[in-house]
Amino acid sequence: MPIPENVLSELRAVLGERLSTGESERALHGASETFHRAPPPDAVAFPLNTGEVSAILRICNAHGVPVIGWGTGTSLEGHALAIHGGLVVDLMRMDRVLEVRPEDMLAVVQPGVTREGLNTELRATGLMFPLDPGANASLGGMAATRASGTTAVRYGTMRQNVLALEVVLADGRVIRTGTRAAKSSAGYDLTALMVGSEGTLGIITELTLRLYGQPEEVAAAVCAFPTLTEAVTCVAQTMQMGIPMARIEFMNPLAMRAINLELGTERYPEKPHLLVEFTGSPDSVKADAEAFGALAEDNGGERFEWASDRDERNRLWAARHAAYTATLKLRPGATGVTTDICVPMSELPGAVAAAAADMEKAGIFGNIVGHVGDGNFHMLMLVEPGNEAEIASAKRIARGMAERALKVGGTISGEHGVGIGKLDLMRDQHGDDAIAVMQAIKLALDPNNIMNPGKLVPGIG
Ligand code: LAC
Ligand code: ZN
Repeated sequence: MPIPENVLSELRAVLGERLSTGESERALHGASETFHRAPPPDAVAFPLNTGEVSAILRICNAHGVPVIGWGTGTSLEGHALAIHGGLVVDLMRMDRVLEVRPEDMLAVVQPGVTREGLNTELRATGLMFPLDPGANASLGGMAATRASGTTAVRYGTMRQNVLALEVVLADGRVIRTGTRAAKSSAGYDLTALMVGSEGTLGIITELTLRLYGQPEEVAAAVCAFPTLTEAVTCVAQTMQMGIPMARIEFMNPLAMRAINLELGTERYPEKPHLLVEFTGSPDSVKADAEAFGALAEDNGGERFEWASDRDERNRLWAARHAAYTATLKLRPGATGVTTDICVPMSELPGAVAAAAADMEKAGIFGNIVGHVGDGNFHMLMLVEPGNEAEIASAKRIARGMAERALKVGGTISGEHGVGIGKLDLMRDQHGDDAIAVMQAIKLALDPNNIMNPGKLVPGIG
C-alpha cells in the first residue's frame, strides 16, 4: 500500500523539501549492488538531526508505514530494499564528526560520516579508524550491518569497535547504549544488540567509536602459490602460529585477472595469491614478514612482490577493494550473486576448495576472495540479469556453501549480513528456539513491524 497522502503531509510538515517522492530519488534509494531487486520506496526522507528522525518514526509507527535506514547503499544482501514499500530514511546529511578525544582514543560521529571521511579528519591526530569493508561506507551503515573487511584480522569488526550508540526506536523514543568506558558489566549489552540489527530494531543516530594509533611502519606484499590449497593452508598455519597480520587476503586466479585489469598491468600471474600487510615498528614488521615468508616458502609460495611505498600500497589495496566491481567487468552486463561464509580456521582450506569445485562443476564463472585470516571468504558469481536458470544455479552453490559452513561449526555470513539474501538460512544456523527469541526481541521493540520489515528475522513478515 502506498504511503497515504495525509501521512506524507505529516512528514512534509517535519521535513519540508527534504521529503522526496520524486522518481529519481526513489530509484536511487531502491537500487542494489547485487542481483536482489525490489520496487523503489514510496518516498525518501533526508533528516538533519535526531529530533527529525524521532518525529519521522513517530509518524510512521502511528500509521504502520515501513521505515528503512539508508547510508551509502553498498550492502550486498538487499538490506535496504523497500520490499514492503514505505519510507527510506537517508542519513547521509547527518555527516558531522561531533567530537574527537585523542586522549581517550575515541570519536563521536553522526551516522552519515563515512569511514574515509572520518580518517581524513583524524589524519593530523596520529589516530585512525581502521575498519575497512572496501566500500567507503557510512559508519552508521557499518554499525547496522556489523561490517568488517580486510583489517578485521587485526582490529575486529564493528562489534568490537562501537563503544556506544544513540538509537531512535520504532515509536520515536531515543535511547543511549554503552558508555565511553572501555568495558562495562552493567546489564544487557544493548550496543551489541543494535550493532548488526540491520535497521530492524531502530535507527542509529550517533556512534562512539574506538580509535587506534596510526602504525609507524607498514609493509604490504603479494605472493603467488601453485594451488589454492597451498595458499589457504599457509593462512591457517600463519594464524595458528600467532603471527600478527594486519591483513591477509586470498584471491583466486580470476580475481587476480580482475586486479591486473584494474591496475592496468599484467604483472601478477593468474594464480592463487595472498595479499598481506604487516604493521608495527620497523623491527617487528621485519620479524613478522620473515616468519610469514618462511611459512609461505614451505607451502610453495613464490617470491614476494613488495609494495613498498605508500602510493603503490594504496593502489594495490584499492585494486583489491575494486575486485568486486572489476570482476563484474569481466562479463559485461553481468550482475553478481555473492556468498559470504566464515568457518573455524582449521576448516578453511577444505571450505575454499569445496567452493571452487562447486563453481567449476556448475560451469559458473566467478571469483573467490576472502579475509582468510578470519576464516571468512566470498565468491562472486557472475550471472546474466534475468537468466533465472543461471541465477538459480549460483544461488544453489551459495546455499550449499552456507550449509557446509554450518556443518563445520561456521556461520552463513561472516560480514555481509542477512538482509533478504540469507533470511532462509537463519533457522538453519540458529534453530527454532533462538529464532523465537529474536522474534520476541523484534516485536518487543517494534510491535508494528515497521523497522525494515522482512529482513533478518524470519517468520514475522
Ligand atoms: C569484499 C567484499 C565484497 O571483500 O566483502 O570485497
Ligand atoms: Zn569482504
